[in-house]
Amino acid sequence: MAECVCPWWLGYLLANPIRKLYQNPNKILAPHIKPGMTVLEIGPGMGFFSLPMARMVGPDGKIVCLDIQEKMLSSLTRRARRARLENRILTRLASTDSLNIDEFAGNIDFVLAFAVVHEIPGQENLFMQIYQSMKKGATLLIAEPTGHVTDESFKKMLEITERLGFEKVSTPTVRGSISTVLKK
Ligand SMILES: C[S@@+](CC[C@H](N)C(=O)[O-])C[C@H]1O[C@@H](n2cnc3c(N)ncnc32)[C@H](O)[C@@H]1O
Repeated sequence: MAECVCPWWLGYLLANPIRKLYQNPNKILAPHIKPGMTVLEIGPGMGFFSLPMARMVGPDGKIVCLDIQEKMLSSLTRRARRARLENRILTRLASTDSLNIDEFAGNIDFVLAFAVVHEIPGQENLFMQIYQSMKKGATLLIAEPTGHVTDESFKKMLEITERLGFEKVSTPTVRGSISTVLKK
């Protein structure tokens, strides 16, 4: 898989509301998110999915957003503030070898990794950290862009998740993506 981080300025394009016509966050995420949940989002960019998820979890829920780029997180925070959702969205700066999420260990109900896994080297380490953050029975939705990720690399990624103990639940249809839902 290619390991090339999305340039920060592309974050503006990815957060453009027109994208909803193609990838609608509510439709993609409604089956997975309930009010009151704590959701972990890996690589949120400028928040195309984070803000709708913050509405879905409601006032008692939280979205923990981890990105390796400060510029993505600062724009996400501004957008959250404008939408009056800043109380439901926590941001953390990740590094290439650590998600820096020890404080959430065993507390996460749902994880979203949308168009990000192929950008992260060391997938075993990545999925191990995600696994540790999740409650028993929590789910992880991975959606990877078909333009960047082949069926073969996706299959290799699933071999890693299986070795770590994730169980495959479904393969939802997400336009422009190869996707899977896994359970702890
Ligand atoms: C292609 S963008 C996708 C953004 C968002 N998920 C979306 O679909 O609009 C990939 C994002 O993952 C972030 N990223 C790359 N490597 C990362 C890492 N090791 N840890 C956390 N985030 C990372 C990038 O900075 C970027 O914001």
